[in-house]
Amino acid sequence: MTTVRDLQTMAGEEPITMLTAYDAATAEIVDESGVDVVLVGDSMGNAVLGHENTLPVTVDEVASHVGAVARGTEDALVVADMPFLSFGADESESVKNCGRMLKEEGANAVKLESGPHTIELTERLADLGIPVMAHLGLTPQSVNQTGYTQQADGREEAETILDLAREHEAAGAFALVLEHVPANLAAQVTEAIDIPTIGIGAGGQCDGQVLVFTDVVGMAERSPPFAEQFGDVRSEMREAVSEYVDAVESGSFPTADHASRSEELDDLY
Ligand code: KIV
Repeated sequence: MTTVRDLQTMAGEEPITMLTAYDAATAEIVDESGVDVVLVGDSMGNAVLGHENTLPVTVDEVASHVGAVARGTEDALVVADMPFLSFGADESESVKNCGRMLKEEGANAVKLESGPHTIELTERLADLGIPVMAHLGLTPQSVNQTGYTQQADGREEAETILDLAREHEAAGAFALVLEHVPANLAAQVTEAIDIPTIGIGAGGQCDGQVLVFTDVVGMAERSPPFAEQFGDVRSEMREAVSEYVDAVESGSFPTADHASRSEELDDLY
């Protein structure tokens, strides 16, 4: 099984791969494909739960999906993405919510959309044995303040991110996601800290890359500009389902092979 120590050893030596999954069947595919880290992202809000954004996602929803993903994963590190307001307001509530993901659902670590308010919490969680992945740059739970545009284009904001990266490393975070920031800033942060950086829309010089599963396989209706489609699963699913509908409507499915008869009941029909 991949551990947080393994990821730290990989940093700078071989690229770390991270991908989201939200259910056991998908987690099996992701895990068998050799992905190092499976993130049960709160992106489930838009990706699979039909919400406009991630804000409505609840702790119970994340817990249920983390349990499913953990049951479908053998080798990868499973990271639970803590949803909006489940952390950061009250320390004991934050510890309880994060701890639940490891204690009850089988996650190996949690991810927190980070800022000045998560430095002490990161230290507390790490002290308690809960590994924390930090997340800076575009943090979608702050969409009402930032929108979805690239963050830290200016020097002041870039310096804030660099400082926060160092502070979260010092607080005990084991890795850092950098989302939708300039590639040269991501490269500088990667250089400045020892823990692995995992980029999304942050260029090729991070220690690893993360994307959302539905974007990667081509299942999402819309994808962010920095994502890449490596398949066309949406079309394939639509084709398969249409063929099923046609087969049922035309009577070509099911055939005699899809069920068996009981000889004892032959006189009934
Ligand atoms: O929720 C999520 O999937 C994420 C990744 C995009 C980093 O936070």
